[in-house]
Amino acid sequence: MFYETKKNNHGLKYNPFKSCIVPRPIAWITTTNDDGSYNCAPYSFFNGIAADPPMVMYATNGKQPMGNHKDSISNIRRNGEFVVNVVPFDAKDKMNETTAPLQPNESEIEVAKLEIMESKIVTPARLKISPIHMECKVYKIIDLPTLKSNEYNGMVLGSVIGIHINDEVIDDGKVNLDKIKPLARLGYLDYSVVDNIFEMHRPEGSPRPDQVIKGKDK
Ligand SMILES: Cc1cc2nc3c(=O)[nH]c(=O)nc-3n(C[C@H](O)[C@H](O)[C@H](O)COP(=O)(O)O)c2cc1C
Repeated sequence: MFYETKKNNHGLKYNPFKSCIVPRPIAWITTTNDDGSYNCAPYSFFNGIAADPPMVMYATNGKQPMGNHKDSISNIRRNGEFVVNVVPFDAKDKMNETTAPLQPNESEIEVAKLEIMESKIVTPARLKISPIHMECKVYKIIDLPTLKSNEYNGMVLGSVIGIHINDEVIDDGKVNLDKIKPLARLGYLDYSVVDNIFEMHRPEGSPRPDQVIKGKDK
């Protein structure tokens, strides 16, 4: 089948687009509200976009049911900071609770009974249940096209200025994803989990990307 996205003439029960880009990692993003409390929400239009220096992106789409722009982007526009908390499989239900559209200064963190920890450099707190946190400062916000005048689509590019990794998930000098089992988003209401890891060696002579040390390839 083929459909033109402008016409949306796929003839399927649901829009298949998100099912074509899978699995998507989930950034459980914490930001600081204007009263100093913390906001928290999951975003799966998310990825790493550079390693040295490390950078991430996430995209915000549409609006909240009450008509406001989403709180995360509003907070980030105001103070330029956010934390990406990685979602372990064990936190899936709590993550889901934090997607509820609350009023700007209502706290998803309280609703989902999440414990928080201070960040080292930025003001938004980290979620204790996450084994990896990335402290980020906004690099740029790019407005994206929207089809409805009352909606907002935008992409936030962030510089990762600090990374916390729980020592318990580091084995033999490597992050042991078997201990985290990161949650991933598929299409519809479907999710996946990273629980089947295998290694593949690159052709002879290629550098191992994770072992590149500044200035020299190992
Ligand atoms: C797993 C998951 C992934 C999501 N990904 C996105 C996303 O990439 N972009 C987006 O705008 N909303 C996404 N949402 C919906 C937001 O989490 C939801 O609109 C939330 O209420 C926004 O909260 P905020 O206003 O506190 O930022 C996602 C929801 C879930 C459960």
